[in-house]
Amino acid sequence: MLDLNSASLIFLTLSLCFISLFFLFFSASSNPSNKNPCPQSYPIIGNLPGFLRNHHRFHDWVAEMLSQTPSCTLQVNSFLNLSHGICTANPINIEHLLCANFQNYIKGSRYYNVLNELLGQGIVNIDAHVWILQRKIASYEFNTKSLKHFISDVVKSEITNRLMPFLSKACNDDMVIDLQQVLQNFTFNNICNVAFGVDHAYLQNSSFVKAFDDAVENCSSRFMSPIPAVWKMKRVMNIGSEKRFKEAVKVINEYAMEIIISDENKEIGSNQDLLSRFMSTSKNMEFQDQEQRRKFLRDIIISFILAGKDSTSTALTWFFWLIAGNPRCARLIRAELSSLPELELRPRIFSYDELKKLHYLHAALSESLRLFPPVPINSRLTVDKDVLPDGTYIGKGWFADYSAYAVVGSLSLRGGWMLMERFSHQINFDSRCFIADLGCV
Ligand code: HEM
Repeated sequence: MLDLNSASLIFLTLSLCFISLFFLFFSASSNPSNKNPCPQSYPIIGNLPGFLRNHHRFHDWVAEMLSQTPSCTLQVNSFLNLSHGICTANPINIEHLLCANFQNYIKGSRYYNVLNELLGQGIVNIDAHVWILQRKIASYEFNTKSLKHFISDVVKSEITNRLMPFLSKACNDDMVIDLQQVLQNFTFNNICNVAFGVDHAYLQNSSFVKAFDDAVENCSSRFMSPIPAVWKMKRVMNIGSEKRFKEAVKVINEYAMEIIISDENKEIGSNQDLLSRFMSTSKNMEFQDQEQRRKFLRDIIISFILAGKDSTSTALTWFFWLIAGNPRCARLIRAELSSLPELELRPRIFSYDELKKLHYLHAALSESLRLFPPVPINSRLTVDKDVLPDGTYIGKGWFADYSAYAVVGSLSLRGGWMLMERFSHQINFDSRCFIADLGCV
């Protein structure tokens, strides 16, 4: 006869075996190929241990793992096998995701669950006909000369009236500054002025700036959350970071709506900013009511602010960081700049046509973007199962991540320097090593 303790122990052991077998079976049946390279993955917890260990160096961790696979692509199994996906840095696969089989790779719930409250139906967060419509409107506007001039005027004014005076004073006073913060303020002022037509002073007096930063921060944590059920639970209970997020979104909505309503009274075509342009286009579109029209405008504008703000400041920050470590490159950029005719005006601002002649600067910026892409990783969801060009199987409803940050490593593995060679040939000097020794491909 077994005593009660032994019986419980056997029951517990059998239950654990059963659960493990269930998850093993589930994971095997949900992945018909099971041949994809995979980082160390466990039956129940998937890749969670590796993710938690490397959370603080996520992009380097991903790049390292990808570089150890035959074609820079691996399979990812999440906690409890609740989701599966692949991650790739192989340019042929990326081209397949974003172009060749574009219809099969949508933003879907992968984006929507995380960004819905902040972005609603804005271009960054949507697919299908709503995306096509916004994309068409945006590409038309961004190709107009008037918008190009407006953006150029806004940036000129921000540089002349705020950025340069601030940097000159910092130099004269021998101040130590946080350049990343300065560039973040610079791009935020620019993008808000381009999007809403609002002046810096108006922006500084509102809680919009902080609310926007808080909201973006929370969305990033949601994306990086190893167990999304945790933040979803916090959202339902309206506690902690999710409570603060809800408050931040409220501030952003109120701020945007206030500007939209005040702009409704202005004459159509009197302003050049994006909101005024989208407003005038939306006059020809059908909406259920005024509220729905305002929400359309709010969503598209907030998407633009989100997309333009941190991407540009991150690009500039990495660029100056690389320049600071590579004086040779700084000297070459200066030499190229001084080859343009001198002007009396200070600070000297370059026109679009002059900028087109700055080939070395262009190449240096391009290399900086390649080495440290401001959107280092991005994601899609599959509509149907597929096989990527390198033979990787991908199931229906899986996520497909692509790491732009890991692409430089993948290119150097497969002779991608050819691309740079071609580029350098075009601009007629050796561009194989513009900036960083660490990143020469
Ligand atoms: C160095 C600066 C920038 C970089 C590196 C960058 C990079 C990117 C990338 C990689 C995407 C693709 C996202 C995806 O496919 O999911 C994207 C989308 C987008 N970007 Fe940028 N961006 C920059 C600046 C800007 C600026 C200044 C604006 C606005 C004025 C902007 C507006 C957008 C919009 C609206 C989208 C969504 C497009 C769509 O879904 O069709 N970006 N950007």
